[in-house]
Amino acid sequence: MRVLVAGAKGMLGRDLVEIFSPCYEVTGWDLPDLDITRAEETRGKIAGLRPRFIINCAAYTDVDGCESRADLALAVNAEGVRNLAAAALAVRARLVHLSTDYVFDGASRTPYRPDDPPSPLNAYGRSKLQGEMLLRASGADHLIVRTAWLYGPRGKNFVEAILRQAEAGRGLRVVNDQKGSPTFTRDLSGAIRDLLEAGAGGTFHVTNAGACTWFEFAREIVQQQEMNAVKIQPIPSEELGRSAKRPAFSVLDCSRYETTCGKKMRSWKEGLREYFLFRGNTA
Ligand SMILES: NC(=O)c1ccc[n+]([C@@H]2O[C@H](COP(=O)([O-])OP(=O)(O)OC[C@H]3O[C@@H](n4cnc5c(N)ncnc54)[C@H](OP(=O)(O)O)[C@@H]3O)[C@@H](O)[C@H]2O)c1
Repeated sequence: MRVLVAGAKGMLGRDLVEIFSPCYEVTGWDLPDLDITRAEETRGKIAGLRPRFIINCAAYTDVDGCESRADLALAVNAEGVRNLAAAALAVRARLVHLSTDYVFDGASRTPYRPDDPPSPLNAYGRSKLQGEMLLRASGADHLIVRTAWLYGPRGKNFVEAILRQAEAGRGLRVVNDQKGSPTFTRDLSGAIRDLLEAGAGGTFHVTNAGACTWFEFAREIVQQQEMNAVKIQPIPSEELGRSAKRPAFSVLDCSRYETTCGKKMRSWKEGLREYFLFRGNTA
């Protein structure tokens, strides 16, 4: 069965290509082979390939950059999704689209369910929400998977940034007032395959289980690497002076995934252990 991964050179896209390849005929496209902001090009290329499934990881993911480049964010994260949806509809492919916990404002104190009302705090979240809405309105057969706090072996990520700073002997100052669920891209890729194989449609939340703050995540990273001498200072978000606001609480309720697939995601700490094992084996 033919699967197209759009955004295949990104952090998640690379893992998806690898994880789907043993069982599917996978094509991975990214810039410059496929620019999803170009409607005609997208439609033509997908009509030529005729995939059964399209998994869309293509996105403009620089959360702070989206504040000053809101037009680019909308072009890729919203109009790009509409273009893919039109192309998917034309060949009757199912479009699996990745979205984000940042569609929520963080005011909740209980994990967000897929049907909870979104209310993004930043331009990235608004563009991703717009993409979801355009996809739902498109008439294309689709599956939206919202996830969060991704790290994986094939991309720049928080885990490596913390280790780099720790190894350089720099004092670490990490935000302690945002709570979410760090998620290993390979675990997410497996869950996406489960959802596809279960024939799931609609909106799902998938992250590793449990939650922590970025500070707690950083502390776990250095502990698992036995760098116990490294000092980490918890700080409030405002000290970083970033241009995009982030939700204080963006934990996602994954029970729809669990009941649909009959599986639970492993905890974020186990996911991190698996990441280090994988990284060690492929180094
Ligand atoms: N990373 C996270 O923590 C996180 C959290 C929640 C949800 N998500 C969602 O998960 C998905 C995958 O994220 P990721 O972290 O793997 O992202 P990523 O590493 O930034 O990968 C995105 C890929 O899309 C490409 N791209 C950008 N504009 C494009 C266009 N017009 N046409 C085709 N490809 C284009 C990028 O190329 P360039 O690098 O050349 O721009 C990049 O290779 C995204 O939908 C993201 O919103 C991510």
